[in-house]
Amino acid sequence: MSDESNGPAPGEDIVRWVYSSTSPAQLAARYDYWAANYELDTERDYGRNDPQMTLPLVQKFVPAGARILDAGVGTGLVGQLMAGAGYDDLIGIDISTEMMAEAEAKGVYRDLKRMVLGETLEFETDSFDAVTCVGVLTFGHAPASSLREFVRVTRPGGYVIYTVRPDVREQGGFIELEDELTEAGLWKLAEVTDEFPSLPKGLPESMLRVWAFEVMG
Ligand SMILES: C[S@@+](CC[C@H](N)C(=O)[O-])C[C@H]1O[C@@H](n2cnc3c(N)ncnc32)[C@H](O)[C@@H]1O
Repeated sequence: MSDESNGPAPGEDIVRWVYSSTSPAQLAARYDYWAANYELDTERDYGRNDPQMTLPLVQKFVPAGARILDAGVGTGLVGQLMAGAGYDDLIGIDISTEMMAEAEAKGVYRDLKRMVLGETLEFETDSFDAVTCVGVLTFGHAPASSLREFVRVTRPGGYVIYTVRPDVREQGGFIELEDELTEAGLWKLAEVTDEFPSLPKGLPESMLRVWAFEVMG
């Protein structure tokens, strides 16, 4: 047996435990539990690399000094990489307060707020030059409808850059929504990476791609 404050049952894989959450409240509680060990577990045991694979697309499309929303900020790994590359106007949001506390400790975010992706975000339309969302658009986490809010809060000419697994993209309604936004003239594809294994040590079958869309006027 496991519960949110005790962590996974003995021998149970923590990634599977977190990803098997059945409600947003449970997911937040499980990430809260994991926050202190999240980076060590994912980098040491799984070789997680998707933040590093996302940075080149940010650097290609988003100028330094841009105001960037890091959606599902987690412990701030993406912000830390972006700050190291000269991005100093970063805002983070997440469902887990303990994950955000780790991000806060990195000292690279101008502001951090608890918000839930899939709901209307508490930001004005056109507030950001770019949105990044790494490792968050997946089963049991943030739904495809999050993309609508990313487009709304990004100014025309800005970019929405996110990772998604090909199977999640197919089964989670992402393809339909991406196409709908393209056909409505709200964004256009700027670049997509090849598939890569994002957890090469622990779950080598878990593939990702990074997508970059330019938001249209
Ligand atoms: C795998 S971690 C990735 C964190 C960070 N983006 C990174 O690349 O290291 C996923 C994060 O998304 C957050 N999250 C999951 N579902 C969410 C939702 N619906 N709304 C906001 N945050 C969410 C979790 O709390 C967790 O911090």
